[in-house]
Amino acid sequence: MAHVLVTRRLPGPAVDRLAAAGHTVDVWEDDTPPPPAVLRERAAGADGLLCLLTDRVDRALLDAAPGLRAVATFAVGVDNIDLEAAATRGIPVGNTPDVLTDATADLTWALLLAAARRVVPAAAAAVDGSWRTWDPTGFLGADVHGATLGLVGHGRIGQAVGRRARGFDMTVLHTRETPLDELLAASDFVSLHVPLTDETRHLIDADALRAMKPSAILVNTARGPIVDQTALRTALADGWIAGAALDVTDPEPLPADDPLLTAPNLLVVPHIGSATRTARERMAAMAVDNLLAGLAGEPMPFPV
Ligand code: DGY
Repeated sequence: MAHVLVTRRLPGPAVDRLAAAGHTVDVWEDDTPPPPAVLRERAAGADGLLCLLTDRVDRALLDAAPGLRAVATFAVGVDNIDLEAAATRGIPVGNTPDVLTDATADLTWALLLAAARRVVPAAAAAVDGSWRTWDPTGFLGADVHGATLGLVGHGRIGQAVGRRARGFDMTVLHTRETPLDELLAASDFVSLHVPLTDETRHLIDADALRAMKPSAILVNTARGPIVDQTALRTALADGWIAGAALDVTDPEPLPADDPLLTAPNLLVVPHIGSATRTARERMAAMAVDNLLAGLAGEPMPFPV
């Protein structure tokens, strides 16, 4: 039977299936990820690894765990895993697509609407005593209905975000049909749905932000490094764009003294795109399915 390392407690009963299958299971019980050196140490004798997006599965880790036969990540994004290094060693890698698509699309809309209608500062004013009376000029935001939504990336999540836009009578552009520069110039809301790769790192840089409308709002529920955050801070401070709503940052979390956090019209939430009970329990189940298959030498049901 195999020795499995699970790098965090997961919701739902799925992880119990690993022990029920006869494997020995070592769960990292802390609320924060194991530091890389500790992860290497804990993984040294592992046959299977169930990791999170917060764990770097790189060559150093794979070298430190020579017995590793399967890696299952509790995420759809795999930018934290050196897939080439895993493939070279013949280690299959599985992820959790589909089950978090709707949850992430919903959160994208929550951010878009909140940023457009200034929900967070308005809610704060309603409880901190600074709201004194109904104000004809207070908390003016942007119309969402009838606006143009630009989707950078049109995979599963981008498409799900686009489908929701129909209810708001929006014009939807996406980068499979519209060149990025045209999309940026035409959109009232720009929402990012590409994976993080060498090609997409800092895709939204100073030039891209300058290409957007001064009234536009940027939403990022993909990966933090897709946006050049130094440029974003300038863009918000100097009014190149009207606002930004981020589920993801680089790094996560941002240090309390990160200059981006002082930018105006910025909403940041702590990477909660897939954070519904259903999505997270399904992700756990899929990750376990992947690991059990990989350890049994069978094809993973959800291979990367
Ligand atoms: C993913 O799965 O990649 C999301 O970012 C977190 O659920």
